Amino acid sequence: MRAPASIANVGPGFDVFGLALRDPYDLITIERKAARGVKLRKVEGLGVEQVSTDPKRNTAVVAAAKVLELAGVDFGASISIKKGVRPCSGMGSSGASAAGGAFAANLLLDRPLPIDRLVFCAAKGEEASSGSFHADNVAPSMMGGFTIIRSYDPLDVVRVSPPKSLGVVATLPDIMVPTKQARAALPKSVGLQQMVHQIGNSSALAVGMATGDLALIGRSVRDIVIEPARESLVPHLREAERAALKAGALTSFLGGSGPCVAAFFDLDWSDGKGIAEAVQAVYSDNDIASTSWVTTWGEGSRRNAD
Ligand code: HSE
Repeated sequence: MRAPASIANVGPGFDVFGLALRDPYDLITIERKAARGVKLRKVEGLGVEQVSTDPKRNTAVVAAAKVLELAGVDFGASISIKKGVRPCSGMGSSGASAAGGAFAANLLLDRPLPIDRLVFCAAKGEEASSGSFHADNVAPSMMGGFTIIRSYDPLDVVRVSPPKSLGVVATLPDIMVPTKQARAALPKSVGLQQMVHQIGNSSALAVGMATGDLALIGRSVRDIVIEPARESLVPHLREAERAALKAGALTSFLGGSGPCVAAFFDLDWSDGKGIAEAVQAVYSDNDIASTSWVTTWGEGSRRNAD
């Protein structure tokens, strides 16, 4: 089965908003085993050297084990992962594997768990690698579309189908930013004015996603708290964002915890290639290699044939 990459935060929605991407994605295969416990059979693909093979740290294994535990079954499983997006990217790499692990384990059950329980299990997998329980990558990787973590306790996720014409350019410079490090850079508290700003933008962004208002989305993706605190971890971020806007993007922002530079564009007006070229040029001019995906939002975890 496949589990898509995602862009978390989407500007002002720190730990709350996430958007599933059509591509790239991880491919996960699972086999039922008579012995209890989940084993990792193989990891291949992009950035495998960064993927933990420790069963207590591997997000897919932890998530799958949680599903089997909650289901109370007396069998185990063996998992293989083919990474489509490298770890430490800001594109939900560990979250995609976690969602994929949970989704795949669910396929083994006679009485499958509901999708909100799968998101919880996947978030436990994400926690094992990042050290914090956040679901803004695993929710879109599991459910697709644009997701809102309305509450963490209890976990309550709202899914919205974004506008059909929402194009996404995700550019990944050849820089590693571990989520743990990016979270350590964050302020411990925010001021009232900052809070007002973030709530205004995030509320409007959610309305833009739900009503298909690309212009509203474009002007609401502005985060004055999290992205500025992480800017120093991502060289040339502002320059890259400016280049995307100049090339016709509706908005450009830090993808997840970085270093992904994300941009939205209108598929009715552009094919997005010029935006990708403009952002990549900023990095190549500074001798930093990069990869761009010109894509759109996508569905969640699913069997390959679906
Ligand atoms: N919301 C998370 C963060 C996403 O920004 O740290 C990265 O996993």
